[in-house]
Amino acid sequence: MAIRNLRYVGDAILTKKSKEVKEVNNKIRALLDDMLETMHEKNGAGLAAPQVGILKRVVVIQVGEDSEVHEFINPVILESRGEQINPEGCLSVPGESGYVKRPEYVKVMALDRNGEEFILEGEGYLAITISHELDHLDGILYVDKKEPAPEGEEDGD
Ligand code: CO
Repeated sequence: MAIRNLRYVGDAILTKKSKEVKEVNNKIRALLDDMLETMHEKNGAGLAAPQVGILKRVVVIQVGEDSEVHEFINPVILESRGEQINPEGCLSVPGESGYVKRPEYVKVMALDRNGEEFILEGEGYLAITISHELDHLDGILYVDKKEPAPEGEEDGD
């Protein structure tokens, strides 16, 4: 395992669409391991492969220290509903946060590290994180979707 270098806002790679993984092999499993290690090192809740310079549809998520680790290869949102507006940040946009509208619930289909298909449902913060990380795979950063702070709330910046 190794910590990979993060890419930051302004880096063109973060605006590109990632490619589907054709074969879930040891290289992909090593990427997942490195992404988890990098996410933990930086205290993030999620990380997408383009953030470490790899344009592949691979995402890791762990929304809390005691929460389950989720690994997604070629994730697709099957269903989403509801709406929530909360402040969020991104390891590629250090020291900032901003309000973004996200679904309250998402249902995702993806492959795991053994190439097996699975379905995961997420609500609340997990839904935010899934939506945020999957956006990275299409070259979208949260700052592209930022909204003004709701009435009576401080802007995150
Ligand atoms: Co991010």
